[in-house]
Amino acid sequence: MNKNAFRNLSYGVYVISTWDKGRATGCTANSVMQITSEPATVAVSINHDNYTNACIQDTGKFAVSVLGEHSEPSLIGTFGFRSGRDCDKFEGVAHEVKSCLPVLSDACAYIVCEVIDKMETETHTVFLGKVLDCDIVKQDTAMTYAYYHNVIKGKSPKAAPTYLPD
Ligand SMILES: Cc1cc2nc3c(=O)[nH]c(=O)nc-3n(C[C@H](O)[C@H](O)[C@H](O)COP(=O)(O)O)c2cc1C
Repeated sequence: MNKNAFRNLSYGVYVISTWDKGRATGCTANSVMQITSEPATVAVSINHDNYTNACIQDTGKFAVSVLGEHSEPSLIGTFGFRSGRDCDKFEGVAHEVKSCLPVLSDACAYIVCEVIDKMETETHTVFLGKVLDCDIVKQDTAMTYAYYHNVIKGKSPKAAPTYLPD
């Protein structure tokens, strides 16, 4: 099996957010996909070890902030290479509460979801979210995972579903 084939799959770059007992928390994710428009439904795959997973299980809700090519690139590291277990990732990060969930201000769009189902794999939970609210935040081109790798020269940690050793 040549897993380099997976490098040909396309993704965006997102911050998945929720609450940790009243405190905003979340993580970077590439694994968001739209399931259908009517009823509006999306899915995301979150590693069992990520604190965001436990927080989504607790709240039953998550939001997706869609990063753009002009979003501050350091947001990806802030949310993708640290854990909300050990730090407050939202400290100093501009955000607003939309339909009861925290979303990043420096994003091109947000999507707020209620978990309606989930599927456990060996390493990740796939959360299925019914969309409660979504809107454009600012005009920008959504960042693709390829842009993150090729232009920003970013890496992915082991918890990312797309991680492959170099
Ligand atoms: C570009 C990028 C994409 C990522 N995609 C995912 C993903 O789809 N699912 C996931 O569980 N983790 C993904 N991660 C890893 C998490 O963001 C990372 O493990 C984070 O530190 C978890 O934080 P938490 O413990 O606060 O939840 C990604 C990280 C980066 C940088």
